[in-house]
Amino acid sequence: MTPDARILLALRQADRALTVPELAATVGLTAEELAFRIVGLTAAGYQIPLIPHQGYRLLAAPDRMIADDVVARLKIERSGVVIGREILVFQKTSSTNDVVGRMAREGAAEGVVVFAETQTAGRGRLGRRWASADHEGLWFSILVRPELGISDWSRLTTWVAVGVARGLEAAVPEVRVAVKWPNDLYLNGQKAVGILIESATDPKSGAGFAIVGIGINVNQLEFPPELAGKATSLRLNRPGGAPLDRQEVAVKVLARLDELYQELGSGFDRIVAEAERRSLLIARWIEVQYPHGRVRGEAIGLERDGSLRIRTEDGAECTISGGEVSVAAWGPR
Ligand code: BTN
Repeated sequence: MTPDARILLALRQADRALTVPELAATVGLTAEELAFRIVGLTAAGYQIPLIPHQGYRLLAAPDRMIADDVVARLKIERSGVVIGREILVFQKTSSTNDVVGRMAREGAAEGVVVFAETQTAGRGRLGRRWASADHEGLWFSILVRPELGISDWSRLTTWVAVGVARGLEAAVPEVRVAVKWPNDLYLNGQKAVGILIESATDPKSGAGFAIVGIGINVNQLEFPPELAGKATSLRLNRPGGAPLDRQEVAVKVLARLDELYQELGSGFDRIVAEAERRSLLIARWIEVQYPHGRVRGEAIGLERDGSLRIRTEDGAECTISGGEVSVAAWGPR
């Protein structure tokens, strides 16, 4: 951890003023070095006054994604994480999936997470554009190198959906998060989270990796006209509508993803069961669009591998593992 991360960790853990000798000893700096660091943190927007006879106290943090602080807060939330073992924050980039893709090809370790305050070319599934409002959401990508047979890599989608859903509910206990199979999370019938997983093989080493891109609408009060009525944010679904601490949301989400990542092998049945409980589609009539056709029917459950089971109008059952799903405006109910 960097000195700043250690300072923020100590101050957040203490949740009271720490005397200069106390804080300096905890973080392994001299009093002068500590003062220098506090000046830097203050310039970054932290309020850490030196209270007479008490010491330094963290009173407020800026509404910015700050890697050192996310590292510190994640350490308090959960020890020994894989997902989030290294965190980078860009103020602006094309797409965090691109950044992580480059890092993966350069041999980065599993679990690195890259956030951007905004993306100039954020992308969604099926080549769509992803609106990444500056400082309003969480736009990030995670590098994973799963120890799973390639046929089980589709599990990643269910893992992310359930992990993010749990994280959002931990951060905002008033919301209920539904999974719109396979990749979207909804709050009260509108989309708040999109997931884009891209996998590749390193041509040199032959090792496979996946880039898990996650977009979470956190504090937006408005969306571009083309998303009006379809997209929502955590803030819009929170009683009272106060803005959220995006770092806290990020930390809860990363901690839950890390927890569940350990269960991707033997615990996957439980993850699927939760995705099914949270499903927006089960018992509804849906239409699945493929490049070369479509299937219509009632969504009746998830298979053990996370694919969707459908009963078509003629009573036949089939499973689908991808495609563009919409809830049908037709059907017997
Ligand atoms: C979708 O709903 O179609 C998926 C949207 C995924 C958006 C995220 S934001 C972070 C990462 N970088 C991207 O360019 N896309 C993903």
